[in-house]
This record gives sequence, structure tokens and C-alpha cells, in this order.
Amino acid sequence: MSAVVGIDRARYVYPRGGVVALEEITVEIPEGQSLGVVGQNGSGKTTLTKLMNGLLKPNSGRVLVDGRDTAKASVQELAGDVGYVFQNPNHQLFAPTVADELAFGPRNIGVPEAEIPERVAEAVEFFGLADILALHPYRISFPLRKLVGIASIFTMRPRVFILDEPTTGQDHRTTSTINRLIRRLRDRGSTVVCVAHDMPLLADVSERLIVMWNGRLIADGTPREVFADRAAMERTHLAPPQITQLSLALPGRTGRPAALAVGELVGEFGGAVGSAGTGSGEA
Ligand SMILES: Nc1ncnc2c1ncn2[C@@H]1O[C@H](COP(=O)(O)OP(=O)(O)OP(=O)(O)O)[C@@H](O)[C@H]1O
Ligand SMILES: [Mg+2]
Repeated sequence: MSAVVGIDRARYVYPRGGVVALEEITVEIPEGQSLGVVGQNGSGKTTLTKLMNGLLKPNSGRVLVDGRDTAKASVQELAGDVGYVFQNPNHQLFAPTVADELAFGPRNIGVPEAEIPERVAEAVEFFGLADILALHPYRISFPLRKLVGIASIFTMRPRVFILDEPTTGQDHRTTSTINRLIRRLRDRGSTVVCVAHDMPLLADVSERLIVMWNGRLIADGTPREVFADRAAMERTHLAPPQITQLSLALPGRTGRPAALAVGELVGEFGGAVGSAGTGSGEA
């Protein structure tokens, strides 16, 4: 299967201040891939993801979503294909109740009315929103509001699901729900793009990581490969998950792939320590 999102030498400069947010970036995302995007503050992660849903159009180069040039398509046209969860749910939620919020997206992209209750019910169950359906989205706690923001994209069932820092500043329950969500989306064959600073989460759910630095893409590989790329990690001041750091530092492990989870490292010791689970993700 070819790329569902194709970014070809895209450059983006913000009109205000003339900041070059992205140099010429080229990246292809195959259908069904779960991609993590990492990098320091201001490195261009949000700008890159906004190119993928047409919220921003490149100044030069091209962005294709399912073969369509985003420069020639409206955000509205792309909304059914690409779901975008904003870092700040306050930028996204506007319906008078949580229930309306969940139904708005699918209705807006033309999902038949008869199908909407089933989609909403699935989201309510998955995100645990049953008790707050009648409430105004601004009257619930921030972590819950964040989940409502994600759930309101979930009900649209987009082919490409983009999450911009879904776990930053979130409680453990929300983080574990997001972990489950990405797995569910992967199982369904959706393409997932997740910007995060949470390396254990990305180690757990991403097949591929790209590293942004100063508007450039400086590393691209499996989490295992990227975490072992000392130069890229140091340049971006990113720290691999603790278990990965430990495995990379252990004498005598040179040449072996970095461990991403406690269980992998334990396995190398012949299981002498017993089974220790995955070391990250769900409680
Ligand atoms: N609306 C804007 N107008 C002008 N410059 C902007 C705007 N949004 C972002 N920038 C600048 O573009 C560059 C890339 O920003 P971007 O938001 O894409 O980074 P980021 O990697 O998502 O950062 P963070 O981790 O803080 O979310 C930064 O230098 C930023 O200051
Ligand atoms: Mg950002």
C-alpha cells in the first residue's frame, strides 16, 4: 500500500515574524502506520502535523493526503480523512454538551444520521464518558475535556488520526486511555501520528519515530533505532525510556538492539528475574 500522507520537500514560514518553522521536509507515512513525532519545543512538530490536515499549506513543496494535494483541498474536505486533535481542547470544543460534541464531527462530514448513535455509544464506552454526556464541555475537568476532544475525533473514524501532545500534563488514567486508544486505532488499520514528549508511551505504541530539530527531520527509524542514535538524542535533549537507557549502558550488551521494555531485558537474562511485564503503558 502506498503512502496515505506524502510530504515532499515541504517548507513552511509563518507569515508573522517570518519564522522558518520547517525547512524542506520529505516524509511518507504508509497507510496503517503508527508514527511518533518527537523533538524539542519549537522544533516544528505542530507545524508538521498541521500540514498533514491542510490547516497549513506549504510555501513550497507538496503535501498529498490520499493522493490529494492539500493546497487544492479545503480543511473541510480533508476532515473526513484526517482527524486532528489539538494540544489544547479549548481550541476544539464548542458544542453545548458533551453528547453534542461527540455527534458533531460525524454529522459534519456527512455520516448518515442513523449511524451516529452507534459511533457515539462506542466513544462513550471507550473513553468512559457516560456520566458527563449532558454537561457543558467547559464544566468538566481538564483531563476529561482532553478525552472529550479526542473522543469527538474518534467518532469520525478518520483514516489518519493525528494527536498533538495528547499526554502532556495529563493524569495517569488519561495517559493509559491514550495508550489503549492508539492500540485500538492500530488494530483497526488506521494511520496514527502522535506528537509526544512521553518516550515510554511512544516506545510502546509507535512503529516508527521521527525526530525534529530546528525545522528539520534529523532521525527516522524504529523507536529502537532512534533511541540508540546518540547524536540525535543528544542534539534534541531527548531521553530514551529509562529501561532503554539502562540496556544501552550495560557492559557486554554492545551490538545488541536496545531494549524497549523491562520484559525484553529480563528475557536476555534467561528469565532469571521472572516475568516483569512491559514496563510501560497500561496499569
Ligand atoms: N502562529 C505562529 N506564528 C509565528 N510563529 C510561529 C507560530 N506557531 C509557531 N511558530 C514558530 O514556529 C516554530 C515551530 O513551532 P511549532 O509550534 O511547530 O513547534 P513544536 O515543535 O510543536 O513546539 P512545542 O513542543 O512547543 O509544541 C517555532 O519557532 C515557533 O515559535
Ligand atoms: Mg507543538
